[in-house]
Amino acid sequence: MAPTGKLLLADVAFSGVKQIPSTYIRPISDRPNLSDVHISDGSIPLIDLHGLNGPNHLTVIGQIGQACQGDGFFQVKNHGIPDEMISNVLDIARQFFKLPESERLKNYSDDPTKTTRLSTSFNIKTEQVSSWRDFLRFHCHPLEDYVHEWPSNPPSFRKDVAEYCRSVRGLVLRLLEAISESLGLERDFIDKKLGSHGQHMAMNYYPPCPQPELTYGLPGHTDPNLITILLQDDVPGLQVLRNGKWIAVNPIPNTFIVNIGDQIQVLSNDRYKSVLHRAVVNSERDRISIPTFYCPSPDAVIGPPTELIDDENPAVYRDFTYGEYYEKFWNKGLVKECCLDLFKPSLNTT
Ligand code: OGA
Ligand code: NI
Repeated sequence: MAPTGKLLLADVAFSGVKQIPSTYIRPISDRPNLSDVHISDGSIPLIDLHGLNGPNHLTVIGQIGQACQGDGFFQVKNHGIPDEMISNVLDIARQFFKLPESERLKNYSDDPTKTTRLSTSFNIKTEQVSSWRDFLRFHCHPLEDYVHEWPSNPPSFRKDVAEYCRSVRGLVLRLLEAISESLGLERDFIDKKLGSHGQHMAMNYYPPCPQPELTYGLPGHTDPNLITILLQDDVPGLQVLRNGKWIAVNPIPNTFIVNIGDQIQVLSNDRYKSVLHRAVVNSERDRISIPTFYCPSPDAVIGPPTELIDDENPAVYRDFTYGEYYEKFWNKGLVKECCLDLFKPSLNTT
């Protein structure tokens, strides 16, 4: 629970606190050091997807492969999702988090197994330190299985967010083909590995924070899923680790940020990297981000493909089901070591 008896952080943050409650304060060794963040090193690559279906196809595939290998993160423009749809979904998220407390709380749950829920921080049942975030998380594929659980306020939530989900899914499927191709695999290779596919979405709400140096919106983590398509509003906050330094990814209107999750790292046998990233907060403005987490279905078996294994490149991971992986992720908490190491075959064979 957020301190002061409130379930949600927003209802604490806007009560005029000048100091953050002690449960949000990170130990000195684990603070964002905001003045040490690099903006001069250039941002993550920006890839124009317009060329994906034309004579420049192979150039764009090459750019995507390069970005997955080098940064684990890239931005996309000309992605086919209309600007109005983007501003609309950001608006809906903003309206949702401005609803009266009693209305928001209708969606509240602290049980991570619930397929639609509003909660706060990361996993309040297991974590030691809280994060400066509220979030609404919900499943969205297949849509008809979940839409009826979603918030019914704002009134257009279900209709508009469903449309957005469909469009983002279309973008993901194109990117998965491109990523498969960039690895020298059949275009439908990743698609086929995912079982019946899963798609989850979050609306993250980061209220202004009176002491942003002491806490995180989300501490450094890698995403446990396959691939994430992040939409952020115009307030900076996302940072990505590159060569040991944190790089700010400042918002560019109407672009999406794409990042490789742990499952693509496995399916590429470590060629592509699921990179540490984090969200920091600021004292001035609240911030909204809307990640779509695309994932295998829980029964899908994930492991390095034989096509990418040879004497020089042995399999880095054992096969596992995504369900097994995901459970470990939520229980472990957001610590810097990523969950992937737990799925490496033991080197000690004695
Ligand atoms: C996430 C995430 C970053 C952000 O939700 O996994 O990394 O900027 N979010 O909100
Ligand atoms: Ni993330």
